[in-house]
Amino acid sequence: MFDFNFYTPTRVVFGRGAERKTGKLLRQAGARKVLVCYGGGSVIRSGLMDWIRSALKGEDIDYVELSGIVPNPRLSKVYEGIALGEKEGIDFLLAVGGGSVIDTAKAIGYGLANEGDVWDFYERTRKPAACLPLGVVLTIAASGSEMSNSSVITKDEGMYKRSCNTDLARPVFAVMDPALTVTLPAYQTASGCVDILMHTMERYFTNGGNMEITDALAEGLMRTVMRNALILRDHPDSYEARAEVMWAGSLSHNGLTGCGSDGGDFACHGLEHELGGMFDVTHGAGLAAIWGSWARYVYRDCRPRFYRFARRVMDIVGEGSEDAICMEGIEAMEAFFRSIHMPTDLQELGIEPTDEQLCRMAHLAAEAAGGSKGSAKVLHECDMLQIYRLAAEG
Ligand code: NZQ
Ligand code: ZN
Repeated sequence: MFDFNFYTPTRVVFGRGAERKTGKLLRQAGARKVLVCYGGGSVIRSGLMDWIRSALKGEDIDYVELSGIVPNPRLSKVYEGIALGEKEGIDFLLAVGGGSVIDTAKAIGYGLANEGDVWDFYERTRKPAACLPLGVVLTIAASGSEMSNSSVITKDEGMYKRSCNTDLARPVFAVMDPALTVTLPAYQTASGCVDILMHTMERYFTNGGNMEITDALAEGLMRTVMRNALILRDHPDSYEARAEVMWAGSLSHNGLTGCGSDGGDFACHGLEHELGGMFDVTHGAGLAAIWGSWARYVYRDCRPRFYRFARRVMDIVGEGSEDAICMEGIEAMEAFFRSIHMPTDLQELGIEPTDEQLCRMAHLAAEAAGGSKGSAKVLHECDMLQIYRLAAEG
């Protein structure tokens, strides 16, 4: 068991109609001029933005809007938001959307609160000293950014993704109404469920410091997400299932399922971020496409955890060697991915990278990690390339 420092300052307002409390929450947080950030239009079509605007007006809070944030959000939009925020003198950010909108708002918050180029914080050549306060109205259960310390941005030039992780960017509040996620396309719902699973799996497959209480929380979370992902496949309108998945999404990435461990593995996330940067794929689907290849490549270096996962999460009950049980667990997870129409290799993901592109992604992933990444198995550039090649072969 490792010592840990668990910091989760976000006030969560959860349930039906929670978005109606946004105005009051902004008032309580002392917001005077707000930059409201949102994406490509789902929040307009659903009428949510009308609610938000009237909530702001109702509390007499001044605001400006920044729209058009795309999935795998771009640095150019961050710069646009920083320029707008400076011009308008904003003192608070409100993200209405999913991970891409929240991460953009976090980046704008860093840009407004610090001198110099915000990208330095993502390249990790400098550390931010502050971030403007941020609130969230969540519309998709997936990234966990509504409570996480992380912001992931893609640089337009070269199309590569980098993250900046500091407690400064943890949102002040997160408004979560599961009913808002009913309009999601099935692919986004399923991708979100994979991302939620993966945030806990990245923390679960480690070679250090696992705690019984953390394992119990993690295993319960994974089982709950899988069960409810299947319910949502067949009954996308189920409020109960939407709620289970939404709350799991926040708990999966606010640090709770990593307490006492060595910080987790996160190699799949590193590998996926390069896929997202280069091919603009949906993050959760990209994770599903890479996970099986990663797991086969690393499980012998992390047998006790893969064995436990097979028995306690995937319900593998038969006899067999330890390796055979580990493999059955991996195959069962891939079968689950397929059952919710998620890909298990790059072809199923819809991309066919050349070997040159695989080499470039491995190089970038290793570079972003500072040379190596992983706890289940420490991966270097050559290992990353092998995993990409396995995923490309299918
Ligand atoms: O742009 P709009 O029109 O809103 O459409 C979005 C977008 O196309 C749509 N959508 C969202 N809510 C909807 C909806 N459509 C209908 N009804 C709704 N209620 O869904 C699409 C995806 O949105 P996005 O925000 O990209 O999804 P997600 O929350 O999965 O975020 C993905 C991004 O988060 C990053 C990923 O790398 C990716 O860039 N991550 C951020 C993390 C963090 N900050 O902690 C951790 C994650 O591991 C992840 O890396
Ligand atoms: Zn993720």
